[in-house]
Amino acid sequence: MSKKNKATFPQKGMDKTTLLEELKGLKKDDADWRGGRNFAYVYFAGDEILDTVKEAYGMCFSENALNPTAFPSLRKMEADVIAMCANLLGGDDAVTGSLTSGGTESILMAVKTARAWGKKIKGIEHPEIIVASTVHPAFHKACYYFGLKAVVVPVGEDFLAQPEAMKAEINENTVLLVASAPSYPQGVIDPIVEVAAIAKEYDLLCHVDACVGGFFLPFLKKIKSDLPDFDFKIDGVTSISADIHKYGYAAKGASVVLYKNATLRKFQFYVYTEWSGGIYGSPAISGTRPGGAIAGAWAALKFIGMEGYVQLVQRTLSVRAKVEEALEDISELKIFGKPDMSILCLGGVGVDIYEVGDELAVKGWLIDRQQNPASLHLTLTPTHEKSIDAFILDLHQAVKKAKQLTLNKLSNQLQVKTVKGLSKVLPDSMFEKFQKFAAKYSDVGGKRSAAMYGMMGDLQAAGNLDEMILDFLDKLMSEE
Ligand SMILES: Cc1ncc(COP(=O)(O)O)c(C=O)c1O
Repeated sequence: MSKKNKATFPQKGMDKTTLLEELKGLKKDDADWRGGRNFAYVYFAGDEILDTVKEAYGMCFSENALNPTAFPSLRKMEADVIAMCANLLGGDDAVTGSLTSGGTESILMAVKTARAWGKKIKGIEHPEIIVASTVHPAFHKACYYFGLKAVVVPVGEDFLAQPEAMKAEINENTVLLVASAPSYPQGVIDPIVEVAAIAKEYDLLCHVDACVGGFFLPFLKKIKSDLPDFDFKIDGVTSISADIHKYGYAAKGASVVLYKNATLRKFQFYVYTEWSGGIYGSPAISGTRPGGAIAGAWAALKFIGMEGYVQLVQRTLSVRAKVEEALEDISELKIFGKPDMSILCLGGVGVDIYEVGDELAVKGWLIDRQQNPASLHLTLTPTHEKSIDAFILDLHQAVKKAKQLTLNKLSNQLQVKTVKGLSKVLPDSMFEKFQKFAAKYSDVGGKRSAAMYGMMGDLQAAGNLDEMILDFLDKLMSEE
């Protein structure tokens, strides 16, 4: 079926000026990260860092780390990055790792390594990992891809992983325990000392997901000495993931997965020796690996340095302090848990927090909505220094407006009830049609999604949520 405006392959090349104008036009509705109006996805710490990283990226734009012997520069920079990160994260000389394309790839690799380790060392054929309910979905993705079972343990009321409950799930198939530093949803550091001690007691691997905290917590520790350890300094921690493209301020496509020693890292590698194209060895998931991302990561760490990162953390903390001060006057909002760094999870008290999110979105703020519990997610960076006062003003107004929207909310609830009721009485085929309608109604690309979140929460019980999200993703990916 042909769709209006769907791109066809260009017959002739376009001139550069027109092409770049078109690209500029495409970007006009993108999130304004430069102005600090996004609270997710882009970590920006000013033009000086950005330009330096960009220049380094550009210098290695075409180089490919697939064959490190062809580009000794990439090999050297990659080795430097891994060594610098190991040093930062409490590793001794034995700690080593790989540079990957991002947190998800680092986590996929840590889980795949645990699977291979379990099979070789313990003969485990049906491996299981134990994670807290707040763990990043990349662990579930890893289990799905590599055929492991993820045993999910609920977090406590403080949103922290519960070591004893995790321990109770250990069986003869367990290969790995996971803790987060911090977890993404509420920004709290799991009790890593306890989780790692249990892993050690049972001779299991223990992974710390420091994807978002790996380049924040070590610098925060210089300011707040009572911050708990989270890294290789803790006995029992066997691997760590940390994203340089988050608070490391590198270009997208840079994370490290580090292992206690090279023996463990070997379980991650892939080798195929029978290929007519030659012997093929690959450290992680990607074959071709962009030289630019490696150079960008190397440049960011060296350009900013320990003192620079500590200053960036300090600036981010001052943004957080402003938000916390403002919340003292907004009784309808509360912070969930006791966040350890720069992530705040806001819930509503007598106000629909999704409506607050919608009001902020209408004013041009990009904030993610979360569920279980319903909340808004703020990832703070130094860039928010310039926007936080305006944000706080809008936040006050958004809460006021959201309260006035009680009527709307009631009608949303009625819609949810109708959906729930329909799922019980309609035959599957008709309900599918209705889901399509609901996906449309949820306003892809639009600003308001409170109704959709409400609906999702209730549809979960009907067991059709996965299907609906798949439809939704399909629709997003085929948007013209
Ligand atoms: C704690 C945590 N783990 C893993 C990831 C996944 O990282 P990426 O999006 O780079 O794959 C994230 C991303 O926000 C995260 O916060």
